[in-house]
Amino acid sequence: MCVSLPTHSLSLSLSINILVLFFSFLCSFPILPCTLLKLTSPLICTMSAYKDQDPRLHGIKTKIRVVPNFPKSGIMFQDITTLLLDPKAFKDTIDLFVERYKGKNISVVAGIEARGFIFGPPIALAIGAKFVPLRKPKKLPGKVISQEYILEYGRDCIEMHVGAVEPGERALVVDDLIATGGTLCAAMDLLERVGAEVVECACVIELPELKGRERLNGKPLYVLVEYMEI
Ligand SMILES: *[C@@H]1O[C@H](CO)[C@@H](O)[C@H](O)[C@H]1NC(C)=O
Repeated sequence: MCVSLPTHSLSLSLSINILVLFFSFLCSFPILPCTLLKLTSPLICTMSAYKDQDPRLHGIKTKIRVVPNFPKSGIMFQDITTLLLDPKAFKDTIDLFVERYKGKNISVVAGIEARGFIFGPPIALAIGAKFVPLRKPKKLPGKVISQEYILEYGRDCIEMHVGAVEPGERALVVDDLIATGGTLCAAMDLLERVGAEVVECACVIELPELKGRERLNGKPLYVLVEYMEI
């Protein structure tokens, strides 16, 4: 469920960090260790495109505008509308996801309201999947299944149409940004409750300091750029 991590997961994340360090160390030696790494640890090596240094990522990152103190004081708002104004950077963003997910037998792209509705549909069309909107309460006209999640102050909820996703379907969850991971976690729960298999969560931006990745119950998360709030 979508609740805070128990403290013992801290030591788990510590040991994971040590593992990562160990593998990075191996990676600095050519050929054999990297092959070994690819075989044994696909998760650690491929979770953020930024670390792979695709030349398109720099262009994408520079087009995201950071607006301090919006919508309220202390928040550094990550504005992706400036990315959408640049056809090359917008296309590169979609292409990077499509290159990763085509041929992976994904039949559902589930987009989270509202900015998951911008990035999800072009990915869905390009990989031959259907698009399913996960919406805020009372927006969908048909019968819905809903999932509550806990916010910093209070609760929220997302909803999906019953029948939109069949049991056994392979799904990708898309949003623009992962902060604390609450909404993504609820989205995955919703899809799993109707019997779908969540293959991965994909976001354009990650705020690693908020540790949303740790709330995803081990589900892989793929992001293009990271933003540090310092
Ligand atoms: C693709 O996914 C479907 C479930 O949506 C599954 O029934 C089918 O066996 C999968 N095909 C391959 C080639 O993995």
